[in-house]
Amino acid sequence: MRAIAIEGFGGRDRLQLVDAPDPKLGPDGVLIAVRAAGVNPVDAKLREGRLDDRFPHRFPVIPGWDAAGVVEAVGPAVVDLEPGDEVYAYCRKSEVAEGTYAEKVAVAAGVVARKPRTASWVEAAALPLAGLTAYQVIHEGLRLERHQRVLVSAAAGGVGHLAVQLAADLGAEVIGTASARNHAFVTGLGADHVVDYTAGSVGEAVHELFADGIDAYFDVLGGDALADARAAVRPGGRVTSIAQPRPEGDQPGVEGRYIFVRPSATELDELARLFDERRLRVEIAETFPLARAADAHELLEGGHVRGKLVLEIA
Ligand SMILES: NC(=O)c1ccc[n+]([C@@H]2O[C@H](COP(=O)([O-])OP(=O)(O)OC[C@H]3O[C@@H](n4cnc5c(N)ncnc54)[C@H](OP(=O)(O)O)[C@@H]3O)[C@@H](O)[C@H]2O)c1
Repeated sequence: MRAIAIEGFGGRDRLQLVDAPDPKLGPDGVLIAVRAAGVNPVDAKLREGRLDDRFPHRFPVIPGWDAAGVVEAVGPAVVDLEPGDEVYAYCRKSEVAEGTYAEKVAVAAGVVARKPRTASWVEAAALPLAGLTAYQVIHEGLRLERHQRVLVSAAAGGVGHLAVQLAADLGAEVIGTASARNHAFVTGLGADHVVDYTAGSVGEAVHELFADGIDAYFDVLGGDALADARAAVRPGGRVTSIAQPRPEGDQPGVEGRYIFVRPSATELDELARLFDERRLRVEIAETFPLARAADAHELLEGGHVRGKLVLEIA
């Protein structure tokens, strides 16, 4: 099969189109003929070796965790999926080696869900990692409820633009941060307010909107940006970060959680339902053929993608 692989950590030039052996299928596995693969910031971090201490890996590494495609074969223990099913998955495995930047990927059946009926392959491939992250932060980390005020950072990004929609769909009052060129986009996703993070302190801007503070902050940035925005959270409020542990810092009365996204077929089913009910959409910034994965990484590493980048494979 054709795949993009790296023989060692490094720059974008490491991403080479290769002829790789088809992945082997275990008894609980599903072999997916990949139609499209989502591109995520973690793919570039992995390529550079920045996650070397977190993920056991085996070279050559085929990057990529997001896939949408057609089931080609199932292991003998798999009962609820069969060849021909149209599926999508966040294909994280215990070892990083055979990812989704490939014509085929084998993954445990337990993390595979039926793709949203109304989504294109590209849209379905863009959803799993970012969608599950947004879902787990909103529901599990922040336990967000109707009428609560939530600030979502990097609201125009892959995770943020899905989080804004999930929060708005719940009936929360949503504030997003974005540069000026993305304000109309973020409002169009359902945000009630947008704060321009390039224009000064986000915490102060939010405080001007709500003198008594906000209930929840979804942080994707960490560091100084987290500390600044966190100041707008009221005592008793919550902060969940996908960028750094202990996001509550020393702020009194604020509950903090760090979330590292988990695969979940059940939650993918829920995202598919929301998508098919037109309560969630995914913004595709650009698509690339598999052979141009390095160009996708270059754009991603610029840090200003609106929505998602996707590799089209079949
Ligand atoms: N812990 C986990 O499980 C987990 C899961 C998923 C992602 N992550 C991490 O979360 C981060 C975000 O992921 P992503 O896929 O959403 O990234 P992304 O799509 O690449 O984010 C790009 C967006 O970030 C915005 N942005 C850049 N700098 C900003 C700033 N200082 N303040 C506000 N917005 C800013 C840009 O908007 P403008 O163009 O308007 O600036 C752009 O729309 C990455 O570091 C990723 O690795 C962690």
